[in-house]
Amino acid sequence: MIANTIKKQAKILSGAEFSEVIKREVAEEVKRLEKEHGFRPCLVVVRVGDDKASEVYVGNKVKTSRELGIVSEHEHLPAETTEQKLLETIENLNRRDDVDGILVQMPFPKHIDENRILEKINPEKDVDGFHPINVGQLAQGQKSLAPCTPAGVIEMLKRSNIEIAGKHAVIVGRSNIVGKPMAMLLLQKNATVTVCHSRTKNLSEITSQADILVAAMGRAGFIRGEHIKEGAVVIDVGINNVSDVTEARELFDETEIEKRLRTIEKRGFTLVGDVNPKEAREKAAYFTPVPGGVGLLTVAMLMRNTVDAAKSRRLK
Ligand code: GUN
Repeated sequence: MIANTIKKQAKILSGAEFSEVIKREVAEEVKRLEKEHGFRPCLVVVRVGDDKASEVYVGNKVKTSRELGIVSEHEHLPAETTEQKLLETIENLNRRDDVDGILVQMPFPKHIDENRILEKINPEKDVDGFHPINVGQLAQGQKSLAPCTPAGVIEMLKRSNIEIAGKHAVIVGRSNIVGKPMAMLLLQKNATVTVCHSRTKNLSEITSQADILVAAMGRAGFIRGEHIKEGAVVIDVGINNVSDVTEARELFDETEIEKRLRTIEKRGFTLVGDVNPKEAREKAAYFTPVPGGVGLLTVAMLMRNTVDAAKSRRLK
């Protein structure tokens, strides 16, 4: 008998495709608001200091806003900005009637208290969904501005016709930005939700029961084949840099490794999620790549939150 050598491979969920559709919808809504109501939504992104990754993320947010017709400002403050000065900056933006969305990019310099800053943002303009009022509303299942990355994951599942209700969703990671709001959103969609973290015992025993597995703990390629149930939906939220060639060989199969090695040679690193893509592709039914997966949805959902915030505040 001839051995069947065709390996089953996961379907790749392309962030680019979904984010383009969402951005197109947002751009149309922006046009409609201008035509019918005479205003364009406005987003202000505040950045403190010179974190390199933040510079790239903020640049991307501002550029995308402008492409969609959203008015966008970038306020860049020096690293030594005091907490008081940053609070005053936010207060001014809270008061400005033309500003619909305020986003203060994290991480902040160490002398600034993150909670004090997030609590200062007017919840109606909190397009990150990090203010305790929005977090509370999300937990209560009320309509709220939800954090962009987990909201993007839900959108991706919805648009891929992947059923959530009744499924066992396991999230690895309990951050305020991804893990916790992801749990709330999946719960709202009637999944049975388990949250795992660095102190979880027998991790693979739990993750291998997941119909939907969300990896968001910030460790390159940590989730391996043994953690994944055959036929699961694997959502990789991690973004890590890998510069070691041997490590890269463990992560990428023959279809991808050459390209990745060239990237390491050229840039010094390649982007890797929290899931080992080589092993996930062989076990999962669906899998989100890094780069080109969930990350692109984050920006698209920020645009949508900005338009939603503008509509709730201005068209009351
Ligand atoms: N830093 C990393 N991700 C985010 C995000 O979604 N929002 C903000 N404000 N800062 C971040």
